[in-house]
Amino acid sequence: MASEKVLAYLDSHQQEHVAQLCDFLRIPSISSQSEYADDTRRAAAFVADELKELGLKVEIADLGGHPLIYAETEIRPDRKTLLFYGHYDVQPVDPLDLWDSPPFEPVIKDEIVYARGACDDKGQVYTHIKALEAYIREGVELPVNVKFIIEGEEEAGGESVYTYTEQNAEKMACDAIVVSDTALYNETTPGICYSLKGLAYMEIRVFGPGMDLHSGSYGGTVQNPGNALAEIVAALKDKEGRCLVPGFYDDVLELEQDERDGFAELGYTDEILKKETGAPAAFGESGFTTLERMWARPTCDVNGLVSGYGGEGAKTIIPATATAKVSMRLVPDQNAETIAKAFQDYVMKIAPAGVKVEVENLHNAAPVLVPRKSDMMRAGMRSLEIGFGAKPVFIREGGSIPIVGTFQDCLKAPVLLLGYGLSTDNIHSPNEKFHLQNFWRGARTSAILMAEAAK
Ligand code: BES
Ligand code: MN
Ligand code: MN
Repeated sequence: MASEKVLAYLDSHQQEHVAQLCDFLRIPSISSQSEYADDTRRAAAFVADELKELGLKVEIADLGGHPLIYAETEIRPDRKTLLFYGHYDVQPVDPLDLWDSPPFEPVIKDEIVYARGACDDKGQVYTHIKALEAYIREGVELPVNVKFIIEGEEEAGGESVYTYTEQNAEKMACDAIVVSDTALYNETTPGICYSLKGLAYMEIRVFGPGMDLHSGSYGGTVQNPGNALAEIVAALKDKEGRCLVPGFYDDVLELEQDERDGFAELGYTDEILKKETGAPAAFGESGFTTLERMWARPTCDVNGLVSGYGGEGAKTIIPATATAKVSMRLVPDQNAETIAKAFQDYVMKIAPAGVKVEVENLHNAAPVLVPRKSDMMRAGMRSLEIGFGAKPVFIREGGSIPIVGTFQDCLKAPVLLLGYGLSTDNIHSPNEKFHLQNFWRGARTSAILMAEAAK
């Protein structure tokens, strides 16, 4: 357990920490849009300054993209080491008109802060910084060495953090990597996440005539890129929700019986799913429960589909082009490069005649599986239990955190995925939010973990 002084500090500084978090949230650090590059740099400086104020040795690394922050406390060889990872960049905000308040003007209502990045991931990263601050400001000796790596390209598929990790594995050596960028199981139950999905993100581009054509003059004489793309998309999955890319399921690690039992015990129902998503019904690969599909089955989904005219009224054309963005969420032990290649080959094979088709692999992420039994995992469980006042359950996540696989490979340390958000916190959507209770409990959990990991 962390010292009483440390936890008392966190309790008595709750309002101040929220005000500081709001300053952080006011910086529009959208990493994928170049007009925000200066703001993104400002968010990096915000983090670096806080860590410098706490007396850490701070490095701001520029690897060609957005700055990456590496920082460490004094490193004493007789202490274990925790490496905290997170990202200060955020997703774009559109559609802006669906926000109830401007995304970079944080609003607090009913102990919930609303802003882009509140949950993903500024609010969660900040719990780690405030936990460390509590030790340092109270003059309580740190039970572990603390290292931070906080990047600004997570949402944009950037390479900097990969390069940095490969080049600095020795400096980043640690006994566990701690990541708070996922969710609690639900409002009352914390979860320890032991698997993340990977990703193969594809773009299909279909080219037909050199320009949009009058659909009366030329209809029936040339292939329509919109129809051709629809044919391709329709052939990606069968009616039961199974992906038809050859070899797609070859390397999928089946769930263990105790995992299926564990999921079933959680009592997640399709009613809950419908309530959370607003979808009229649950749908997915047959033979699996909703939670199994969500957490442990690979998926293949259109993320965007554009062709021809979508404005008001009618416009009679045969569009010149059609494009689709398709993401495949992968599970252990699928390999993103192998799947991307199989997808490319399949789409080229089924492409209708009369159009030119291109398939590009935009970016990939490796799936992650963490052993459920380890001393560090137990330390994480105890910390969550004390910090949130409820027994944590084992969960998986459908989302991806691309660097985590590389951390496992390069640093050879267990990964603790301690998420403090809620799956209903609207990350990547309008009205993103973070519950302040979870912010405060998260900071306590991170502080407690520093003590529990030392045991
Ligand atoms: N924090 C999320 C990952 C996540 C999503 C965890 C949902 C738990 C639930 C992360 O910032 C993210 O958005 N990852 C992207 C990765 C992509 C841009 C390569 C994702 O999963 O889409
Ligand atoms: Mn995130
Ligand atoms: Mn995200």
